[in-house]
Amino acid sequence: MPPDPVSPISASPVSPTHAAAHPSTELSAFVPSFRGSAPYIHAFRGKTFVVCFGGEVVADDTFPNFIADLNLLASLGIRLVLVHGARPQVEKLLEQRGMESRYHKGIRITDESQLGSVIGASARARARIEAALSMAPRTASVAPVHNRVTGGNFIVAKPIGVVDGVDMKYSGEVRRIDAQAINDCLKDGDIVLMSTLGYSTSGDTFNLTVEEVATQTAIALKASKLIFLLDTPGVLEADGSVMSTLYTREASAIASKAPQASDVQFFLSAAVRACQKGVGRAHLIGRKSDGAILQELFTRDGIGTMISVDSLDNLRPATIEDVGALLSIIEPLERQGVLVARPRALIEREVERFYLAEHDGQIIGCAALYPFPEAGKAELACLAVNPDYRREGYGERLMKAIEKAAKEQGINTLFVLTTRTAAWFLERGFTPATVTDLPEKKQALYNFERASQVYVKQI
Ligand code: ARG
Repeated sequence: MPPDPVSPISASPVSPTHAAAHPSTELSAFVPSFRGSAPYIHAFRGKTFVVCFGGEVVADDTFPNFIADLNLLASLGIRLVLVHGARPQVEKLLEQRGMESRYHKGIRITDESQLGSVIGASARARARIEAALSMAPRTASVAPVHNRVTGGNFIVAKPIGVVDGVDMKYSGEVRRIDAQAINDCLKDGDIVLMSTLGYSTSGDTFNLTVEEVATQTAIALKASKLIFLLDTPGVLEADGSVMSTLYTREASAIASKAPQASDVQFFLSAAVRACQKGVGRAHLIGRKSDGAILQELFTRDGIGTMISVDSLDNLRPATIEDVGALLSIIEPLERQGVLVARPRALIEREVERFYLAEHDGQIIGCAALYPFPEAGKAELACLAVNPDYRREGYGERLMKAIEKAAKEQGINTLFVLTTRTAAWFLERGFTPATVTDLPEKKQALYNFERASQVYVKQI
């Protein structure tokens, strides 16, 4: 989804010289973006986020900025658990020692002679991260606190064993995460930094995968968010654009088709597992773009891919059998004058324009899409949700379904006509417009007596 008109990403970048000449341009971009971020700042305070990144991130040019952003998150009262990998560092060390990296299904086979290198490389990566986290903040806006970073034996590990006849040796998996120990540190305001080394009850050290450690930790902590840093800017469509939101069902279908041992296969399936086990949301963002984590967290549309759980509820296009149920949702609102009256015959004729929200098989909401392809615009009409199901996000999901359907038809502007629910649309990225912004055909039908307000949104 393209950025909404009030988000900071849509504001054209202002160079310092330009800004000096037109200070008002800069202000107008900053103010709405800050207002847009404020609800997130508030919502995230005291919440636990698990951030997972590979050893590549440590070597990236953007690393110092990434760490500064993490410090910023901590300063806003977010409880941070960082889980780092060290694959490139391990590969380098093994190479220096004349040893070969061997993988099975994308997972390293760690034999006894290599375990020392794994521990060494992991320790070096950790030292770099700790050092960076200890750096004094570069901007005065962040309180100059010294972030305390802790780690420990939080992971009880066990060997993976033999997979397809391949002995994985000292490559292990998580048996248990000591959530209480981690929470104790978080309560004290520490940033918890975890590596991929886990210890078994027999005292052996195992090399684990970074996504498994992060996922199991997020589940054990009942984290609000699990964030993965990827090589790509998110999960990509065939045309290279980022899929902005995915429900777990779509996400697991995509993950199962992804190339073996790819970021998407590993991280997307981990994200799905986490969401299914109670983590609020998972986010896949690009490690190469500076500030991606801030943009993802503090704007409505984010920058990467967000995964959240499928509810029992379904959205689907309406069929002729649904007309009765549709009318039962729409009619009360027509009587209150919130929706324009639509006779049964009209709905029967236009039923394929409607989308329905269902809960346990019961139709509880609807919305319709009326395209005006010649104008490149479409109307989002008749958005209604049964009062018993208000404030549960159905309206928003219906709106998103309509946006998606419109985009698939090559439409980039959505408009609504409303008399009573302007605020709802304004909160969701619509901006005030006038009758002259409507497609000509629609202008001809505009009911001046009803005097609806027009709102538009670029999608
Ligand atoms: N900032 C919000 C959050 O962190 C929404 C992010 C939406 N991101 C997306 N890729 N659609 O929960």
